[in-house]
Amino acid sequence: MNNIYILGIETSCDDTSAAVLHNGILLSNITANQEVHKKYGGVVPELASRAHQANIVPVVDLALKEAGISRTQISAVAFTQGPGLLGSLLVGASFAKGFALANDIPLIGVNHLQGHVAALFLREKGNTEKVPEFPFLTLLVSGGHTQIVEVIDFSDMKVIGKTIDDAAGEAFDKCAKVIGLEYPGGPLIDKYAKLGNPHAFKFTKPRIKNLDFSFSGLKTAFMYFIRDNIKINTGFIEENRNDICASLQYTIIEILLDKLNKAVEQTGIKEIAVAGGVSANSGLRDVLKVYSEQKKLKLHIPDFGYTTDNAGMIAGIAYQKYLRKQFDTQEISPEPRASI
Ligand code: KG4
Ligand code: ZN
Repeated sequence: MNNIYILGIETSCDDTSAAVLHNGILLSNITANQEVHKKYGGVVPELASRAHQANIVPVVDLALKEAGISRTQISAVAFTQGPGLLGSLLVGASFAKGFALANDIPLIGVNHLQGHVAALFLREKGNTEKVPEFPFLTLLVSGGHTQIVEVIDFSDMKVIGKTIDDAAGEAFDKCAKVIGLEYPGGPLIDKYAKLGNPHAFKFTKPRIKNLDFSFSGLKTAFMYFIRDNIKINTGFIEENRNDICASLQYTIIEILLDKLNKAVEQTGIKEIAVAGGVSANSGLRDVLKVYSEQKKLKLHIPDFGYTTDNAGMIAGIAYQKYLRKQFDTQEISPEPRASI
C-alpha cells in the first residue's frame, strides 16, 4: 500500500487540535486547550476564534514534528466543516485551504459528529484492540450534542434519537456552574461524584416516549433544589458537594441508559459504543460495562484521549474519504449547524 498521510485539523469549539494519521494509524494528536474561557463559565465565541488563530500554526508544527514527517509528505489535509462555532470553524477551514493550495494536495471537509464516531477506530501503532463491527449503535454525548446514532458505515450514520433541548454535557456544565464549579464542570462533577452517595437526593426524569432526550427540566429542577436548600442552610453546597454531584450524575446516566436500552431493543443491534466528551465520565463507563455484560452486548469505549474533541478523529473520517476519493474544492465553507 502507498504511504497515505492525513493531516487532520479540529477547531469546532474551544480546542485547537492537529493530528497525523499514517495508513489509518495515529502518529500524533496534539491539542491546545483554551484556558481563557474558564473565568467566563462557558466558551466565548470571539475569544475562541482568536485563540485558534494564535494556536493553529504551532499546534500543526508540533503534530508534524511528533509524527516525524515533513509538510511535503502529507497526502491530504482535512478539517472540521461543522457543526460548531462559525468563527472557530473558519480558522480551521482557512488554514486547511491554504495548506492544500500551498502543497497541492486534496482538501477534505469532515463532519465533527462523524468524527466522534471515528474516534472509536483510532489506534496507535502496536494497539491491536478490536474496532467495532458495522452496524453498531453509538451513544454520542458531548457538550453540544446528545444522540443515539445507528452506524451502518463510515459514510452512513442515522440519528435515531436526539436531545430536544440541552445536551448531556451542557447539563453537567450548567449544573456545575450552579454549585460554583468552574467550566467545564463535567470532569469536576465526575471527580466529586466518586466520593458521594448517588441516592442521597432525587431528581425527576423526563417522560418522553420515543428515543429522544431532554435535560432542561433536570437543569431547572437542580437550580431550584440548590436555591431552596441554600435558603435553609447557607453551607448546603459545601457540606453536601459529593452527594449532590453523585446524585446529579446518577440521574443523567439513568436518562442516557434508559434511551440506549430502548434503542438496543428496537434495533436488535448487539454492539454498542459511547463517544463524545461525556464518554470520559467514569460513572457512565462503569454503568455501560455492567449493562453490556448483563445484556450480552459488545461494548466499545474510546481511549480517554480520544473522547473529547481532537483532530485524530477528523483525520479518521478523512482517511476513509481519501480511500473513496471524496475530495472537496476550495469553495467548501463551514457549516455551523451541520447534522451527522
Ligand atoms: O466532545 P467535547 O470535547 O466537545 C463538544 O463537542 O461538545 O465535549 C465536551 C463536554 C463538556 O460538556 C464537558 O463537561 C464534558 O464533555 N465532559 C465530561 C467529562 N469530561 C468531559 N462530562 C462528564 N464527566 C466527564 N468526566
Ligand atoms: Zn465534540
